[in-house]
Amino acid sequence: MNISNQNEQIDGQSIQAYQLGKTDRAWQNGYGTQSDGQDTNGQNQPARKLTTDAKSIIIYFSRSGSTELLASKIARATNTDVLEIVMDDSYPANYQETLARVNYERENQDYPEVKMQVPDLGQYDTVYLGYQIWAMTLSHPTRAFLSVYGSQLSGKLIAPFMSQGGYGQGDSVQQIQAILREQGASGNRFANALVVDGNKVDQADARVTQWVKQIRS
Ligand SMILES: Cc1cc2nc3c(=O)[nH]c(=O)nc-3n(C[C@H](O)[C@H](O)[C@H](O)COP(=O)(O)O)c2cc1C
Repeated sequence: MNISNQNEQIDGQSIQAYQLGKTDRAWQNGYGTQSDGQDTNGQNQPARKLTTDAKSIIIYFSRSGSTELLASKIARATNTDVLEIVMDDSYPANYQETLARVNYERENQDYPEVKMQVPDLGQYDTVYLGYQIWAMTLSHPTRAFLSVYGSQLSGKLIAPFMSQGGYGQGDSVQQIQAILREQGASGNRFANALVVDGNKVDQADARVTQWVKQIRS
């Protein structure tokens, strides 16, 4: 099923979130979720809204659109800049093929590479970091991004948000902290993570508003 959220946009582009509308039973914890195989969802270009005066930025990855939809809600609530993480080699549209690749990467510690222009992040105080849970932890594209650009996040408030299949955030925040340390980042503060079921992101508006308010206060 391919549900297009015509009313939801990010960086002026509509979002396709493939898990929405599925019952918990049909959804089966994200199992089987297809994507468009582009990692940018639909025919979209990677989202990229960069201004000279914003003090916060949303940096996110999304394979099947749920985290992107969550990112769009945070963008609307905060009016921040936006940067979508893009991979050199996109994950397949087919879930089983994605799972096989993800398992191989994990077992061989052979993580993928990002392919994107990353601006100087010096102007930002806060980074809203969006990802999804894969195998109970941080998804590999997010790991790949942090492993290259983590030192640029030094001293910033990190606000993690994620969509997941019902098993919760796992050790993803601890993984982010460990990678940042490895990259030499220091002085980071962490907000409480926002954790949303991938098939219910369209119902998360009130939680997003509350979460953003807490971070900005
Ligand atoms: C390879 C793979 C592994 C996953 N592993 C888990 C998991 O361990 N726990 C969980 O709750 N959800 C898991 N999921 C479900 C995703 O976290 C969920 O579908 C998420 O909303 C996808 O976000 P996206 O649409 O932004 O890509 C997995 C999904 C994939 C594709």
